[in-house]
Amino acid sequence: MEKLQTLIKEEAIVISDQVIVMDTFLNHQVDPAFMMELGEQFASRFKEHHITKVITIESSGITVAFATALVLGVPLVFARRKKTLVGDTEMLVERVPSFTKGMVTDIMVSKQLLSETDQVLFIDDIIANGDAARGLIKIIERAGATLVGAGIVVEKAFQSGGAYLRESGIQVESLVKIASLTDGEVQFSS
Ligand code: G4P
Ligand code: NA
Ligand code: NA
Repeated sequence: MEKLQTLIKEEAIVISDQVIVMDTFLNHQVDPAFMMELGEQFASRFKEHHITKVITIESSGITVAFATALVLGVPLVFARRKKTLVGDTEMLVERVPSFTKGMVTDIMVSKQLLSETDQVLFIDDIIANGDAARGLIKIIERAGATLVGAGIVVEKAFQSGGAYLRESGIQVESLVKIASLTDGEVQFSS
């Protein structure tokens, strides 16, 4: 997506060779019309599937996941992140490490919200090592639902998350892939 690449070139801040800040257009502020364009992209890339739900993890994946769900005409489920776990048997919980936050969190989805008949599309803003994605996929499996694919706005291809999902046989559609952030420069890959 050219517009996304332009926004990254003009507005993103590379803060290390691992981390890029995209607060003006993805992680802290969004243009709703642009989010709808991204949602339309994902809806069209997965249009051959009979998707019943879109799923993401709070917080900054929610806007693009909402846009995708709106285009598809299906509900959006956003997994919650909690630092501490209250023993709740109505929740499917997975513990995941967080790359940027340097800590472990629990992600959880209510058992009520996913069932064996669900065909689920995972949408997220960024994939890094894919730890959160892996946790969410386990939750989808435990619910007996089917994961039909993953739509990612920005794949940091120098980290292993996207490759891991593809190697697991999942259809991954990334709108932009970043090959490296070395020397404060964003290098895209196709
Ligand atoms: P992973 O699943 O791919 O391994 O990523 P991880 O859990 O480590 O990511 C934790 C959070 O950090 C995620 O946001 C993810 O989007 C974000 N993140 C990873 N790399 C970058 C980066 O280069 N820049 C920015 N800005 N964020 C990055 P989250 O947990 O959903 O948190 P939030 O949405 O509440 O901020
Ligand atoms: Na984020
Ligand atoms: Na996210």
